[in-house]
Amino acid sequence: MPKPIFILNGPNLNLLGKRQPEIYGAETLADVEAACARLAGELGLGLRFHQSNHEGQIIDWVHEARDAGAGVIINPGAFTHTSIAILDALNAFDGPVLEVHISNVHKREAFRHHSYVSLRAEGVIAGFGTEGYLLALRRMKTLVGA
Ligand code: DQA
Repeated sequence: MPKPIFILNGPNLNLLGKRQPEIYGAETLADVEAACARLAGELGLGLRFHQSNHEGQIIDWVHEARDAGAGVIINPGAFTHTSIAILDALNAFDGPVLEVHISNVHKREAFRHHSYVSLRAEGVIAGFGTEGYLLALRRMKTLVGA
């Protein structure tokens, strides 16, 4: 059984669909999870999909992926711009890492232009809406060669 891909979501993404829909769209995180599960099935990839508002929980999932995950797709939310601890955890993970942002962070406030996670990620997708998760999964399929 090949190891699954971990898709990890950071703070406030549980409010997707309700929170600033003009920026983040109308889809809920449950919709995103369902679409990712469907595509992962088509691609023959296993999937673990999580969201937390707590930095330590996200770090614990990255640690879990060290043994149990083939790759990590992460939308760290605002922790993108602040968390050296998540970067350190990702640096302790050997597989591919892809960073996803629903919005185009480069078109927004200057504090969103810097990402600690980008120092580790093989690639970054920003501004493609929730479709970015699906694009990242397709790229992950290539990277893990499953
Ligand atoms: C986000 C962008 C971040 O700057 C923001 O804090 C988020 C969501 C995105 O998906 O566009 O919570 O990661």
